[in-house]
Parts: sequence; C-alpha cells; structure tokens
Amino acid sequence: MDMTRRNFIKLAGVAGLLFSIKKVHAAANEKILVVYFSRTGEEYSLGNITKGNTEIVAEIIAQKTGGNLFEIKPVTPYPDSYEECKKVASREKATKARPPFVGGVDISNYDLIFVGYPIWYGDAPQIVYTFLENYDFGGKKIVPFCTHGGSGLSSTDQTISMTCPTAKILQGFAISGSIAQNNFSRTESIVVENLKRLGLT
Ligand SMILES: Cc1cc2nc3c(=O)[nH]c(=O)nc-3n(C[C@H](O)[C@H](O)[C@H](O)COP(=O)(O)O)c2cc1C
Repeated sequence: MDMTRRNFIKLAGVAGLLFSIKKVHAAANEKILVVYFSRTGEEYSLGNITKGNTEIVAEIIAQKTGGNLFEIKPVTPYPDSYEECKKVASREKATKARPPFVGGVDISNYDLIFVGYPIWYGDAPQIVYTFLENYDFGGKKIVPFCTHGGSGLSSTDQTISMTCPTAKILQGFAISGSIAQNNFSRTESIVVENLKRLGLT
C-alpha cells in the first residue's frame, strides 16, 4: 500500500472517531428541550421578516414533541440590516467571538436537546457555540437542525460533535429558510418526517 493511501485510511479512521454522528433512535418518554437562535429583520432573499425562520421550525418541533423552548437571545441584538448583520457575523466568525446571551436554562432536566440555528457563513452563528460551551452535555442527546439559504447543515453537526464531545449527536436536519418562512404545511411535514426518523412520533 502506498503512503498516500495509508495516510488517507488513517485520516478516515481519525475522522470517524471525531465525528460520531449517530443514527440511533430517541427513547420513548425522553424529556425534550428545543434550544434555538433565530433573527428577525432584513433576511437573505426574504425581505423584512418579523418571525425568524429557525424560530418557526423550533416552535413546530416543540409543539409536536411536547418539548420546552429556550431561545438563545443575544445580549446585544444583531442589526436588522442584512448587510450590517453580515459584517458583524463575519467579524465574529473571524475572531471566534463568543457573544453573551440572556439568561439560561437548566439542561439537567432534559434527555434530548434539539439545537437550532441559521447557517451563517457556512457555520452556526458564534453565539450558538457560546451556548454549547456553557453547559455540560454529558449523557445528553443532541439533534442539530438549521435553516439556510442553500448550504444545508454545512457540517455543523460535525462542529457541534467536536464542541460537545460527551454528548451523543443524533443525525440532524436542514430546512430551507424560504420554505420555513413561506410554506408552513411543507415545513411541518419535513419536521414530522424527521421526528418519525428519530422515533419521536
Ligand atoms: C449573516 C448571514 C450569513 C448567512 N450565511 C449563509 C450561508 O453561508 N449559507 C446559507 O445557506 N445561508 C446563509 N444565510 C441565510 C440564512 O441561513 C437563512 O436565511 C436562515 O433561514 C435565517 O434564519 P433565521 O431567520 O432563523 O435567522 C445567511 C444569513 C445571514 C444573516
């Protein structure tokens, strides 16, 4: 076997250990928390929105599972202007900022935690990492979900897995922001499909 092939196999093995996204089902009667970050104001290809795309999805998940909602609310709100928000977001990403959020939640009461966010520059907004780094997820299951303008989950399930190494990361899902904003019944059916896949309905 040549060196390149051997190195590739080694790398694949390490990646397999690092990114353990599990296709396991949730157990019945698990206590569910739905954590999300979402923004209103001028949004990519949607104009001015008064309810965030991810918030719409989070509320459907909570309603269908009987879970509780916790919103990651920034201490300093993001600008309403899309262009201004992009500037703040890209600066935060470049500096790996950890913007503070308001209040908190006792996660010890929950077994399974949905974590939802918009995709910003191919990643979760940095404030989502502030939240994830603030808690001990040992023994908890996390289901990542996002809304986006075309990028899908964009490997954020893997970054969450690296950020929360003691959690079990279940396979997440992505919904287009414009579908979430403009087509409630389609959004609801995508959520229900995913809850079924996870064994939650
Ligand atoms: C600062 C910023 C950066 C974005 N970057 C991406 C991106 O890299 N890929 C993508 O598909 N969508 C991107 N979007 C679009 C959002 O992910 C999408 O509109 C999302 O549904 C917004 O959710 P929210 O209303 O819950 O905040 C970006 C939006 C903003 C404001």
